[in-house]
Amino acid sequence: MNQDEYTPRPEHHFTFGLWTVGNVGRDPFGEPVRPVLVPVRAVQQLAQLGAYGVNLHDNDLVPSGASASERDRIVKEFTAALQATGMKVPMATTNLFSDPVFRDGAFTSNDAQVRAYAIRKTMAAIDLGVELGATTYVMWGGREGVETNAGKDPRAALAWYREAVNFLCEYVRSQRYDLRFALEAKPNEPRGDIFLPTTGHMLAFIATLEHPEMVGVNPEVAHEQMAGLDFSHGVAQALDAGKLFHIDLNGQKLGRFDQDLRFGSDDPKGAFFLVKLLEDARWPGMRHFDSHAYRTEDDDGVWAFAAGNMRTYLILKAKVDRFNRDPEIQQILGELRARSGGTERLVFSVERSRTLQREAFDLPALRARGYAYERLDQLTMELLLGVR
Ligand code: GCO
Ligand code: MN
Ligand code: MN
Repeated sequence: MNQDEYTPRPEHHFTFGLWTVGNVGRDPFGEPVRPVLVPVRAVQQLAQLGAYGVNLHDNDLVPSGASASERDRIVKEFTAALQATGMKVPMATTNLFSDPVFRDGAFTSNDAQVRAYAIRKTMAAIDLGVELGATTYVMWGGREGVETNAGKDPRAALAWYREAVNFLCEYVRSQRYDLRFALEAKPNEPRGDIFLPTTGHMLAFIATLEHPEMVGVNPEVAHEQMAGLDFSHGVAQALDAGKLFHIDLNGQKLGRFDQDLRFGSDDPKGAFFLVKLLEDARWPGMRHFDSHAYRTEDDDGVWAFAAGNMRTYLILKAKVDRFNRDPEIQQILGELRARSGGTERLVFSVERSRTLQREAFDLPALRARGYAYERLDQLTMELLLGVR
């Protein structure tokens, strides 16, 4: 890739999961098409492309069943690669979905032994993440759900989920780790229906925890789109609540299986408004990609894919700058701002309620006046399409 203003650098804080560039292209219909990518090589390649770091599930690095000495050897080699490249591990997570033991979920399995094992596995994965420097811990409950409601009371499942998160918050406190949790919602796949299906559900659930201050969300583009929602609205709500602890960037066509497409490749306009939201808010978090290369790709294709995610983000960021400086666009927005009353707030007082009751509204004029969104959106489209 040529060097230009869209070339990623570590200060852009782009991260990838080991499982993303390491995706071997297995799907329900076909075998892997790519060889296993060893974590050390993922670190080296991503560093060369300008990424800031890598994130991992426990078993992306240490295979399940590895002995203690094997674990230490693997971690040592990996840490050496991080040191050599300057790459970081800002986020870690647990694989609570591959092992058949989790077929009915982990924290919400109907089997108490499985629930306890899931918490133990997560404690070990937290220790590993913290050892590697992670300060964010993602919880994605891929198997926390049902195919039939006959077998599981959803309120019992929520109580078990809460019990697990409360337990793990206390564990982190008892270890004095500098770690926050980010809960990732998904409506379905691999389960028929997954509990806490959207970012909004997660935010409401967090308020019921014993340490809500330790827990935020990790919204994912594809997951909210699978639920038919506007992604940037969920992210805005998380920002508004001070709960955007992490983000999973990728692409997804509506009404499909979970595709994990390259960021922005499917819905550049949606991606633009997301980047605008994050950049305008000066959100300080990692720009993490949870996407993978098409199954058609070989090794070269994987690195073209990785570079593409970051490049698209930076291109969209430059478009945001352009949008924010475009005189015609800003004039329309300025008119809207004037109309919206600026910083004036409607705050209740008996006096204010009285003046409001007496206020004369020119309803015919308010009904007749348009908002110029057509012009504004067309200008936005022209900017995005490169003619502006
Ligand atoms: C998915 C999820 C996962 C999680 C990951 C981190 O749909 O498979 O997005 O990729 O993000 O397991 O917890
Ligand atoms: Mn996903
Ligand atoms: Mn994800």
